[in-house]
Amino acid sequence: MELNHRPRRLRRTPAIRSLAFETTLAPERLIQPYFVGDGSGIKEEIKGLPGIYRESPDQLVRSIADDVKLGINKVMLFGVTERKDPMAASSKDVENPVIVAVQQLKDKFGDDLFVSADVCLCAYTDTGHCGVTIDGEIDNDRSVAILTEMAVALAKAGCDCVAPSDMMDGRIGSIRAGLEAQNFTDTIIMAYTAKYVSSYYGPFREAAKSAPGKGDRKGYQMDFRNRAEALRELRLDEAEGADIVMVKPALAYLDLISDFKNNTQLPVAAYNVSGEYAAVKLMVEARLTDEGLMVMENLTAITRAGASIILTYHLRDILKNGWHNA
Ligand code: PBG
Ligand code: ZN
Repeated sequence: MELNHRPRRLRRTPAIRSLAFETTLAPERLIQPYFVGDGSGIKEEIKGLPGIYRESPDQLVRSIADDVKLGINKVMLFGVTERKDPMAASSKDVENPVIVAVQQLKDKFGDDLFVSADVCLCAYTDTGHCGVTIDGEIDNDRSVAILTEMAVALAKAGCDCVAPSDMMDGRIGSIRAGLEAQNFTDTIIMAYTAKYVSSYYGPFREAAKSAPGKGDRKGYQMDFRNRAEALRELRLDEAEGADIVMVKPALAYLDLISDFKNNTQLPVAAYNVSGEYAAVKLMVEARLTDEGLMVMENLTAITRAGASIILTYHLRDILKNGWHNA
């Protein structure tokens, strides 16, 4: 055959492929999530998330010290507590394990560690919903007021970045105003901008003890049939003062990541969620795949779609095994 075009020319040898490849996964753009619970001296592995633990603040500081030695310098904290009530009071009090942990981490590591924390009420409400329930309904505006207090409390504790995952309307603007009013002008807001209703959160809800007792999250999280609506959320979060915008989950939502990349100048983050992690671990356990190759394929795909920041439970394993250098 006489062919003008033979794409295989650029695939022939490792040297040629390393000249022509398009996407680099930078491990410094990855953030490791952690679950922080009440008490002290506690570290228990989470069912469904092998290698991921629920830890008391003292124990978390030790685990993160080990991870810092591995090369991790960006973390995301989620709170887990038994102290739940209708108005999510424990979300913003000084005993909230996340607030305790943030203080201890910033004392120990200062600016060497980027500490971000989830801002949501579902770990603190007795209903397990991301907002407070008043007269049988999730009350958007009351929830936003509490979320704002929680974000400010985290900033006071020294948190570098707050990440609202509740999907209430207007919360980014309210949190930004709350932070500015208290002179927390440097606190970064990483908004869960397009957060969808998803079956991929199952292991997380087990970890955070935050499954809604009654009902689902369809009244506030996005409908997975929708794409244009995500750009509407993007415009709002940008206007309200977000610094980083996120798509969640990641792998079934690569189209949204790409839309975000093409429609904002802000950094785009993606959350490689608990169910995506668990799915890989289950395939590995069943000897159906190579873990390192699968993790790199997934995270490179998320990067290729347009995310420059990825939250992923795989980070510690990547650094331990050097999968990014393979
Ligand atoms: C809380 C929150 C959830 C996740 C992050 N923040 C769970 C949910 O909304 O039900 C999911 C993260 C994961 O699955 O890894 N709003
Ligand atoms: Zn929530």
